[in-house]
Amino acid sequence: MCGIVGFNGHHEAAAVLLDGLTKLEYRGYDSAGIAVRDGSKDATIVKAKGRLDHLKEKTDNGRSVIGTCGIGHTRWATHGEPSENNAHPHCSDDGNVIGVHNGIIENYQELKEKLLRNGYTFYSETDTEVAIKLVDYYYKKYLGTPVDAINHALVRIRGSYALELMFKEYPDEIYAARKDSPMILGVADGESFIASDVPAILKHTRTVYYIGNLQMARVGKGEITFYNLDGDEIEIEPKTIDWDAEAAEKSGYEHFMMKEIHEQPKAVADTLHSAVKDGKIDLAGLGLTEEEIRELQQIYIVACGSAYHVGVAAQYTIEDLADIPVRVELASEFRYRHIPLAQNALVIIISQSGETADSLAALRKAKEKNLKTLGIVNVIGSSIAREADHVFYTMAGPEIAVATTKAYSAQLIAADCIAVYFGMVRGRITEEKGAEYLDALESLPKQIEKILEDKERLQWFASKQSNAHDVFFIGRGMDYAVTLEGSLKLKEISYVHSEAYAAGELKHGTISLIEDGTLVISVLTQKALIEKTVSNMVEVKSRGAYLMGLTTYGNYDIEDVADFTTYIPDTDPHFAISLAVVPLQLLAYYFAVSRGLDVDKPRNLAKSVTVE
Ligand code: F6R
Repeated sequence: MCGIVGFNGHHEAAAVLLDGLTKLEYRGYDSAGIAVRDGSKDATIVKAKGRLDHLKEKTDNGRSVIGTCGIGHTRWATHGEPSENNAHPHCSDDGNVIGVHNGIIENYQELKEKLLRNGYTFYSETDTEVAIKLVDYYYKKYLGTPVDAINHALVRIRGSYALELMFKEYPDEIYAARKDSPMILGVADGESFIASDVPAILKHTRTVYYIGNLQMARVGKGEITFYNLDGDEIEIEPKTIDWDAEAAEKSGYEHFMMKEIHEQPKAVADTLHSAVKDGKIDLAGLGLTEEEIRELQQIYIVACGSAYHVGVAAQYTIEDLADIPVRVELASEFRYRHIPLAQNALVIIISQSGETADSLAALRKAKEKNLKTLGIVNVIGSSIAREADHVFYTMAGPEIAVATTKAYSAQLIAADCIAVYFGMVRGRITEEKGAEYLDALESLPKQIEKILEDKERLQWFASKQSNAHDVFFIGRGMDYAVTLEGSLKLKEISYVHSEAYAAGELKHGTISLIEDGTLVISVLTQKALIEKTVSNMVEVKSRGAYLMGLTTYGNYDIEDVADFTTYIPDTDPHFAISLAVVPLQLLAYYFAVSRGLDVDKPRNLAKSVTVE
């Protein structure tokens, strides 16, 4: 991720930069650094590995670094391990250009080779050092202004960047450029500020400029000039930050969806812990007696949208662990269809809001038929929670982004708990096995955190693929269930058409849509089915598909077939989709961001669908 800050004013820069970086530390904290210039003197660069506190200690809270113009960076490593050497700022061989960068330079290898041929040497493993030396190269080659040099470099660079640069010959200026990575600029009282996100500069100014993609800025003391890629001056209207409660709650994330994706470890852990008593999964508190659970002959899971997808996954888990036949129904169908409902049946309604009109109607229909009902609901006191006979509250907390993420994950874990508990009560799994499953479930939050640490690769992949017109998701068994969710996430926020198919079903018609370059995303977490799905991948690849594989660490053979592979930690296959869904959510998010869309509020949608 990384966070960047910049300051050019009359106060000492280091303190302002360190304060700004503190607000951005959520964006990365494996190393940090600042570069400060005092008039025409050489810049002082200080870097430290680890948390920002190390840099603060090293600079005596900024007091040991003198100068009123500077840039700073807090790093979340992408290219090159976390180390002082790889920490930003980076500089050209003779210190002519110094810079920090947030984003990924996709073609840095190719650019590095060009620079090596031109006599440059490299001391770090970062793509940022390459970008800075490329600017230096063009600056010296064309002997133009910094804006000319940056323009030449930007034309060559592919990828995403929020870049801040300082030039030795322009000691009282900072230059900034942006594409697909966040950056704002602000001015107040003859001083200028730059940051990745508003909180970093909010205490200095509420007047900010949102610099656009492929635009640049020359940042003087209290005055900023903007340029387009041709080097022409452009006007950008300042905006006043008028933080409402909603924006403030984003905790520095650009979108609620991203914040909520990051809240999944907590949502999963809290929901799981609510179902654990004395070290065992114990749902006696729901009010269903053990006898009722033992006598169950049928479960109907009824829901809409993503909650329905949880139902599809739960069907596999409950049938497998508790040995009860499960039917999953779309609420909008269930409510109008004549279904010869089995007696001794339990109807489980899954709903985040607890207000979805069709789900509520389905619940009422089940109650009319005298069936037992259980709601898996997030919103306390909602209609479904109030009307269902029994309620399992998911502990996801308020979900604001329209596209569900943490509520889906919490529902999934709730369904897993039901499967394990029912399995134990019905004697289909032993208490020891139940304890093993609980161990696996308890590891999920940490494993989700691990996946989130690697999201820059998905951002990179999404930025390359975001112009796709059609995307197909394939998987078998529970992997099919998670592809349904991955496909919905993608289409609802990025407006890219996508479909999810059981991998073996594709060749019964849909395969005719596969042509050169069609993106097919294949999920392979179900150990027993991987070979079968690989065969389906080969089938589409031979028809031109561009393949992404999503599998568990260790299944490295997938790379022989897939063009891009992403990995999740290994776990029991029953629970693997709690992990697999995370990269799919991230992919959808980054597709939407790359396409410049309103991630949190996709067109035509609403968070709670209270009409049928
Ligand atoms: C998709 C999404 C929707 C909901 C569906 C049901 O991201 O959020 O598909 O899952 O509208 O809503 P709830 O769970 O509130 O009943």
